[in-house]
Amino acid sequence: MFAGKVAWITGASSGIGESLVHAFIKRGAAVVASSNEPSGLERVKEACGEKSAMVTCVPFDLSDTSGIKDIVDKQIKTSGRIDFLLNIGGISQRARIDETPLWLDRKIFEINYFGTIAFTKAVLPYMVKQKSGHILATSSISGRFGFPLRSAYSASKQAIHGFFETLYLENKKFNIRASVIIPGRVRTSISVHALESDGKEHGKLDDGQAGGISPEKAAEIIIRGMVRNKREILVGKGELMLLHIRRYCPWLFFRIADKIKST
Ligand SMILES: NC(=O)c1ccc[n+]([C@@H]2O[C@H](COP(=O)([O-])OP(=O)(O)OC[C@H]3O[C@@H](n4cnc5c(N)ncnc54)[C@H](OP(=O)(O)O)[C@@H]3O)[C@@H](O)[C@H]2O)c1
Repeated sequence: MFAGKVAWITGASSGIGESLVHAFIKRGAAVVASSNEPSGLERVKEACGEKSAMVTCVPFDLSDTSGIKDIVDKQIKTSGRIDFLLNIGGISQRARIDETPLWLDRKIFEINYFGTIAFTKAVLPYMVKQKSGHILATSSISGRFGFPLRSAYSASKQAIHGFFETLYLENKKFNIRASVIIPGRVRTSISVHALESDGKEHGKLDDGQAGGISPEKAAEIIIRGMVRNKREILVGKGELMLLHIRRYCPWLFFRIADKIKST
């Protein structure tokens, strides 16, 4: 399913995206790796050793959507095709609503939502032309319910569900698959880079994050979900139970959520 194919992965410089780069090249797919920082991408490419030639680094900033279409057009001309689009790049938040300035809400939406959909819109016509492709976007368990200190993050991830479910319904006639990845806790630096109310990084690995599954395990779960063509790919362990409680027993969810620290 993967050998000889081309996968474009955002957020490829770190965490889940980085592990996906390794998972794809191990299966014989060429990878176009994107993130904001070129040096992070080069490090990941180098770590692929003798398979590093299978990785092409294409850095771009998800918060600047103006040049994305040109970047995609140029790269797909070089790659010749695009089979898998994995929208993994994103940023989290650690700030209460009353202390979060509107520009910060917008910044989080620019990266997590507008950057992701601008990139997807640029790639989609190529998949429609090919009459094949699989597009994935990353939500979060807090894309299924609100969570203290994550107002804009949770809202931007909830928006991902609306967009990508619609993308699936509109494009299945072109043999295009779409899935939303819903991670619980994965041991990455997402909390370290999360934005506080002044726009500065949180700078800490939160306890919950530290106890999460490894990014390598997360990548394998995502690959398995792709093979099974799942609409939603749940990634994590016990914390995923909250999704089911929220859906089937909302009163119990709020009883649990009431106990979560909100400062
Ligand atoms: N880890 C978890 O527990 C968890 C839980 C729920 C959801 N998620 C989601 O999973 C995805 C991957 O996160 P992760 O856990 O792997 O965190 P991570 O290690 O911090 O990786 C985040 C990636 O996003 C990229 N990125 C951030 N801002 C960007 C921008 N403006 N332009 C381009 N790329 C940008 C980063 O690249 P640079 O370093 O170049 O900025 C990095 O490659 C995110 O969408 C996150 O919301 C993670």
